[in-house]
Parts: sequence; structure tokens; C-alpha cells
Amino acid sequence: MKRILSGIQPTNTLTLGNYLGAIKNWVGMQHESECFLFIADLHALTNPPEPEALRANTREVAATYIACGIDPEHAAIFVQSQIPAHAELSWLFSCLTPIGWLNRMTQFKDKSGKDKDAANAGLYVYPILMAADILLYHPSHVPVGEDQKQHLELARDVAGAFNRKYDVEHFKLPEPAIFGPATRIMSLRDGSKKMSKSDASDMSRINLTDDADTIANKIKKATSDSEMLPDNLAALEGRTEARNLINIYAALADITPEKVLAQFAGQGFGKFKPALAELCVEKLAPISTRLHALMQDTAALDALLAKGAARANTVAEKTLVDCKRIMGLLV
Ligand code: TYM
Repeated sequence: MKRILSGIQPTNTLTLGNYLGAIKNWVGMQHESECFLFIADLHALTNPPEPEALRANTREVAATYIACGIDPEHAAIFVQSQIPAHAELSWLFSCLTPIGWLNRMTQFKDKSGKDKDAANAGLYVYPILMAADILLYHPSHVPVGEDQKQHLELARDVAGAFNRKYDVEHFKLPEPAIFGPATRIMSLRDGSKKMSKSDASDMSRINLTDDADTIANKIKKATSDSEMLPDNLAALEGRTEARNLINIYAALADITPEKVLAQFAGQGFGKFKPALAELCVEKLAPISTRLHALMQDTAALDALLAKGAARANTVAEKTLVDCKRIMGLLV
């Protein structure tokens, strides 16, 4: 049986990008897999949020997983900081990770801004914590969006470095699972930027809590072009925004982008956008209704997270102790 592991940072409400690039694929894989799905609150601290907002967002991400269709009876849904092994294994891995590997990470370059010396050390060692998140659970697959690819490669490199250093076959290399038409959903305002929950402009994204009018308005105002839609994908080359809207439609409708074009070829965005808005509302309304209901009972959510943490902890603790033993620490 496959074992999947993935997580999302609790920074703001989740977006359509998080849903289509990650959660929807987890939902599709969950019944053929053992699932460890967590809320990456330690990672969120690399851009320290307000404590109350972090608490609320952590619960909201858990509720979002369930609202999108993850079965909490089947999957272990848990909060990263409630499993001490994540931070501990991260230290052990830090001592095996060359600084040169971290210097290559594009996320640090993007997020640290102009003054690299002022960026916090957490942002720099973030990929090592992510390697620990992954390898603690010995997953066969890690389903994520395209932007996480480099981090996954680093996790595989760390696993290899550990095995080589101690001459063991302790870690199998986890496979990235990056698939479907929505591996990289772009901003609705700027086709060169990915849709992000931390973008300053709310109009750049669709939040999973947006109501029908908001969704329709954001899609109406989304950047597009004045050309007609072609009947083949090659002809969309260079039309980034158009391609993005086609991808979103395909992912929501569970069809290929080619099929979407077959349906809308020869039509302009005046026709396509209302159809996309309608589909988006149809698919997202049940999620936001469910999410809202789940958020009304935080005690039930916390109980569910405690159950998930207990399940995750058993697996994580064993990996940590094995690693410590292999490395020569007294256990
Ligand atoms: P995060 O919180 O930025 O994003 C969570 C998931 O959503 C995917 N995603 C997207 N997919 C398609 N289009 C987009 N515009 C888009 N935006 C986000 C991401 O690829 C991701 O799958 N570092 C991770 C969290 C993390 C993690 C892990 C993930 C920490 N430890 C271990 C997997 C395994 C992050 O910041 O994701």
C-alpha cells in the first residue's frame, strides 16, 4: 500500500491553488494509501504571524482538509508542532546537510528579500525541517504542487546523505507526486506569478471561503486577452493567463485541458469566464459551507487533531529513535 505524506502552512485561508495543486490529489489518493496529512505551523513561524491568527489558521487548515473530502477516520490529520520529532530530526539532519545545498534553494532567495543577512535563520534551514517532516513517516509518495519540487529533491538528497554516511538503507527515497492540470495555478492578476495565499492582493486568488459573488467577480476581473480560444493547446503557447484559466477549468471539471478547448474553441473570454465562474462556485460552495460548519466546533476539531497526533507520533517517534541509534546517540 502507498503511504502519502503532505502538509500545508497555516498562513491565511487556503486558495484554489492549494486545493487543486495538493488537497484534491490527496482526496483522490486517500483510499489506496495510508495518509499522514499535517498542518505545517512550525514552517509558518518563518514569517512570524500574530499568535491568535496562527491558532485560528491552524484549525482552519485542518477543517479545510476535511471539508475538501479527506476522511479523518482514515487519514492521520495532525499539527506539526505537536510532534516533537519534527524539530529534533531536523537538527540531526542539519548536521548532514552542506550549506551549499541550502544556498541553491530558490525559495530562500525569493523570500529573504534584498537584505539576506536580516532574514531569519529559520527561513534558511526551512528545507531541512521539511526533509524531516517527510522522512519521519517513510512515505512512498509526497503529493504537492510544482513549487515544492526543489524541496522534495533536497529531502531525497538528505535521505541519501544519511544512508551513505552511516552505510545503511534506512531511508527509501520518497517519490514526488506532482500531477494533473493544476500543478501550478497562477495569480489571476499576473500570469507570471503563482497564486498564493500570502499575495498582498486578494483579487489575485480565489480563497476557499469566498462566496459566489466574490468568486464570480474575481474571475470576471481576472487578466485574460482579447483573442478567441483555439482548438488545441499548442496554440495557447505564450498566452499564460488564458492557459491558466483553461487549467483551472480542467482541474475543477476533472477533464483534460484539451477537452476544455474542444468545448470552448472559437469563443472568447466573455463566454468562457461566466462558465468558469459557474463551475468554480458549483465546486467550491459545498467546501466553504462544510468548512464554516466545522469551524463552529473547535473542541471537536482539537479532539480530532489530538487523535491524529497520537497516530503520527507513534510512527515519527520510532523513526527518530532509529536515527539516533544509527548516529551513535544513546537511546
Ligand atoms: P504551501 O503551504 O505553500 O502550499 C501547500 C500546497 O499547495 C500547493 N500549492 C499550489 N499548487 C498549485 N498551484 C498553486 N498556485 C499552489 N500554491 C500552493 C503547494 O505546492 C503545496 O503542495 N513547504 C510547504 C509545506 C510543507 C510540506 C512539508 C509539504 C512543509 N513540510 C512536507 C509536503 C511535505 C509549503 O509551504 O506549502
